[in-house]
Amino acid sequence: MNLARIVPIAPWLLGMCAVSFPRPLAAAETRPAYLDPAAPLESRVEDLLGRLTLEEKLSLVHADSKFTTAAIPRLGIPRRWMSDGPHGVREDVGPDTWNVAGHTDDFATCMPVLIGLAATWNPDAARAYGDVIGEEARRRGKDIMLGPGVNIQRTPLNGRTSEYLGEDPFLASRMVVNYVRAVQSHGVASCVKHFAANNQETQRASVDVEMDERTLREIYLPAFRAAVQEGGAWAVMGAYNKFRGQFCCENDTLINHVLKGEWGFQGLVMSDWGGTHDTREAVFNGLDLEMGTERGARDRAKKSAPEAGSDPSPYERYYLAGAFREGLKRGEFPLSALDDKVRRNLRVMIATRLFDGREEGALNTAAHQKAARSVAGEGIVLLKNEGGALPLRADKLNAIAVIGENAVRLHAYGGDSARIKALYEVNPLEGILRKVGARTNVTYSPGYRKDGAPDLIDKAVAAARAADVAIVIGGLIHERPFDCEGADRSDLRLPWGQDELIRRVAAANPHTIVVIVSGSPVGMGDWLDRAPAVVQAWYGGTEGGNSLADVLFGEVNPSGKLPCTYPRRIEDTPAHAMDEYPGKNGVVHYAEGLLVGYRWYDTKRIEPLFPFGYGLSYTKFEYSGLTLVSGTAPNGPIVTVEFQVANTGDRAGAEVAQLYVHQAKPSLPRPLKELKGFRKVMLNPGEKKAVSIALDRSAFAYYDPARSGWVAEADDFTLQVGSSSRDTRLQGVFRLGETTLGN
Ligand code: BGC
Repeated sequence: MNLARIVPIAPWLLGMCAVSFPRPLAAAETRPAYLDPAAPLESRVEDLLGRLTLEEKLSLVHADSKFTTAAIPRLGIPRRWMSDGPHGVREDVGPDTWNVAGHTDDFATCMPVLIGLAATWNPDAARAYGDVIGEEARRRGKDIMLGPGVNIQRTPLNGRTSEYLGEDPFLASRMVVNYVRAVQSHGVASCVKHFAANNQETQRASVDVEMDERTLREIYLPAFRAAVQEGGAWAVMGAYNKFRGQFCCENDTLINHVLKGEWGFQGLVMSDWGGTHDTREAVFNGLDLEMGTERGARDRAKKSAPEAGSDPSPYERYYLAGAFREGLKRGEFPLSALDDKVRRNLRVMIATRLFDGREEGALNTAAHQKAARSVAGEGIVLLKNEGGALPLRADKLNAIAVIGENAVRLHAYGGDSARIKALYEVNPLEGILRKVGARTNVTYSPGYRKDGAPDLIDKAVAAARAADVAIVIGGLIHERPFDCEGADRSDLRLPWGQDELIRRVAAANPHTIVVIVSGSPVGMGDWLDRAPAVVQAWYGGTEGGNSLADVLFGEVNPSGKLPCTYPRRIEDTPAHAMDEYPGKNGVVHYAEGLLVGYRWYDTKRIEPLFPFGYGLSYTKFEYSGLTLVSGTAPNGPIVTVEFQVANTGDRAGAEVAQLYVHQAKPSLPRPLKELKGFRKVMLNPGEKKAVSIALDRSAFAYYDPARSGWVAEADDFTLQVGSSSRDTRLQGVFRLGETTLGN
């Protein structure tokens, strides 16, 4: 129980002491404890806390510009810088405006968007990715990176689908852990966002999300939990929306009870920009750092801080600034509430080695560009490849017709807060030109344009007819209302007449390759049966065009797998089928419950266009020899699934072996299958490797709301191993002997 809440006056008196007698840096004191890297973290935090005045403390819990908090020079605390995130270090803005700062040293490496990272199904790629972000953030002087985003894809129409890690909590969890660890290894805090249930952009600032406890625990929270508990993320950003009637940035259940209580999170919770709404709620419900409060909200806050002066600075009008100070003075808020927030802010500073001399970092290095190329290439998903249409052989082609605006359009500088001022961005046309050299004649025709131009199709068809191969590079754009913050798409269709373009190009040239550049699933029903090859390329970043050309011409054998289901029709998707998107009267009920993504399609037996986990290769893989080995070590795995994967084709390639679990007779209904393990295996032609995936009890458990815990029941579990969620190659049954309840 928080005594300070009951007796608010006493802590305030203590606070007065803190105001009057902060511990100064004594002249004789050579190195105070907080500056001693060898001292334990908590004693450094307490030492520094004890030296702060009330004003200094307050200055640490709200912004003093768009992306900073104030410096405290007398204690050697510099201005603290935050930056978006999530696939590169954003250009500088402000300080007090969203206008770009116009710096020349803020060009950065743009990594592929996060959904493209998820499509690698390779936690090592997440580590390489995080290393780039961390090193570049350090070089750019950033202390906290605003990412990654781990909101689960509830609807493919969500404008921020590209910024997240797909539809499955297990996959997202495995990817986020390495991302966060890598970023933070460079002395930069990773701020995981948007906590929680932020699954649509429509009405994002107000919509109230309702879902049952089990769905929350099993679908929407695991990636956050993994980021915090396994990844050690030092910061979490609250979401804009409400959850069960309370704004997420000031949400007692999510922040106080789950994040800080159950999960023991010791870092800081910051608001999304403009996500703070009320001083009292922010004080008591766990918000530690208020960022981005804008004018309308400021004016409301001003009313509760009358003595803030005739024209207080915009930052003084923040909910956790003047109004907080006044509430402390009046005894409405205990000083302990402020101290807890400050402690968390200091902890993050110290844990990220602010006072210990951090590495300088590095920007736009060849190594970063190489990582960008390899991760983007590894995330490209080959969706269809009939008759060996791919890979292309440059030496066998005299003429290639490249068609489509996305062959030349740049996307790095799109996506609103996720935009990156890339040092350069190789577009697909450039990538192809570089790959084929002067030998092959490459023509380019736009085929469609964002602003429409009907005759473009005729020209593209003529170009396709005259070429050996036509490559249509279309998809979406990284701008509203497509793959961009602030709005959702209205449907799955490709815009601007692309369906017709692809149909006609494919009719004109049987060797037509379709490349979809997008950050979310698109409809393909109109033309999929007519195009022999289809590639999902995402927004590939700095090296995107090279990565795509690597795959098209076979230098990289595709190994990406879909991190989300591609539906045939939007009506087939769970939120839309339940008529629970975008909600009614400001409330959205997640009525589909646990049945998100493949859990829905499998359980409801709906045929998707492409299933979760799907992706082809230029080689073939065979699975064999499944054995289940029961664990006997007390804290070890309870079963290890062992099998072999062989490359039976004639090229080296990587396969993502996926393990799904199905419980025979659960006491509460469960989805037909759930991903609980995967392994990416690189194999030379003819090579066979043994793979083993160890499962602990969490792989068998579901959340039981009645017992507020995770139950693994004594039952039979079918363990399916395969190449996608719908392509099971091996299976075995494991009998769990004993029911257990855990956290
Ligand atoms: C976004 C956040 C972002 C912040 C700062 C908000 O609009 O929702 O993801 O980090 O702006 O740019």
